[in-house]
Amino acid sequence: MYYPEMSKSELLSLKLDLENQYINFKEKDLNLNIARGKPSIEQINLSREMLDIIDSESSCVSENGLDCLNYGGIDGILEMKKIFSEILGIKQENIIVGGNSSLNMMFDTISCFMTSGNSTEKPWIEQKDIKFLCPCPGYDRHFSILEYFNIEPIIINMNEDGPDMDSVERLVHEDGSIKGIWCVPKYSNPQGYTYSDEVVRRFAKLHPKASDFRIFWDNAYAVHDLSETPTNLLNIMDECIKQGNEDLPIVFCSTSKITFPGAGVAALGASNNNINLLKKRYAVQTIGYDKVNQLRHAYFLKDYKNILKHMKKHREILKPKFDIVLKYLKENFNENKIASFTEPKGGYFVSVNVMNGCASRVVELCKNAGLILTNAGATFPKGKDKYNNNIRIAPSYPEKDELSLAMQLFCICVKLATIEKLLTS
Ligand SMILES: Cc1ncc(COP(=O)(O)O)c(C=O)c1O
Repeated sequence: MYYPEMSKSELLSLKLDLENQYINFKEKDLNLNIARGKPSIEQINLSREMLDIIDSESSCVSENGLDCLNYGGIDGILEMKKIFSEILGIKQENIIVGGNSSLNMMFDTISCFMTSGNSTEKPWIEQKDIKFLCPCPGYDRHFSILEYFNIEPIIINMNEDGPDMDSVERLVHEDGSIKGIWCVPKYSNPQGYTYSDEVVRRFAKLHPKASDFRIFWDNAYAVHDLSETPTNLLNIMDECIKQGNEDLPIVFCSTSKITFPGAGVAALGASNNNINLLKKRYAVQTIGYDKVNQLRHAYFLKDYKNILKHMKKHREILKPKFDIVLKYLKENFNENKIASFTEPKGGYFVSVNVMNGCASRVVELCKNAGLILTNAGATFPKGKDKYNNNIRIAPSYPEKDELSLAMQLFCICVKLATIEKLLTS
């Protein structure tokens, strides 16, 4: 039954029942965590053999004769450029292969625009009060980068087909202090949405007031399908080239959730202008990234087709976990409609919206019974979800039986928090 239509006495009796269930969970002394999108140990093990690919007998010379044990190769080895070129759909020459973290490359890119600017505009740090568009709910670490650089976030609503493009176009066309937008275009974090062709085309057609406006296209989940029929994301770079707008997008990805989150390889793809600007910075900050790890990855991953085969093994581990999460959400909330949730076809998260004002209480109730969730508000800049209703669930890390327990407890806590709210309003 729909809770807001229940009488006070019905709500009180349901609350009593739920409190008893909650106490039973508390007595189990649980230590569960569905907060962060960490691959499980089983997933990590899928790539362990990569560690044996290079040993003291290996030549460690890359395809074009580069000695990977020595200095040099600032933009990465050719083999990895080819692989990222296939994943991102961007020419090899326009790829920089970096260290182990794409987030690090995003941070560096913003840092580069802050201190050096592009050829036509002053560095961002010299321009007052710059802003970034943030489709929300979104990825908390994107927002942390903005906070670090004191860049003001502007919240943009996310629809199932991507950000609200009417707002994006209006703001970007009118306001020259808006310098960028965060996008997770495929299997967005946390909803699992993929941008529609129309949304990608509208991005490519933007004519920003600021000539140093950039689209930060974080394609973290480019090959992370949960379904046999993956959703297709239109190639932003191709579309931008068609519009004469190739300097707009900077595209990022990594193998963190293909091989090892702690020891993967990251890359970015962009226009010649952007690549030249960024290479200048990279050349100052390092003489080259870890090319042995790049080589190891190239030997292990081989090519795009093989990566898809490898990702199928991830899917076989991940999909049943998403199924568990969705089973509990459907069983508990389809009828009473006190929470809504996404059903992703890929990526790492499920986004749940509870009744307004209840998210922080759900997180608190879960924590007090031994289940750690991502903090309420984390999916919004500065941790402030004005409706206090969004919670991100990350099903990947726990074992399936732990995840089932976590979801049972989560659903009890959502119901309890909702009833508490209804009884006090
Ligand atoms: C959207 C998004 N981008 C980037 C990252 C981190 O990527 P990396 O490990 O390459 O730094 C994550 C990790 O959860 C993510 O969800």
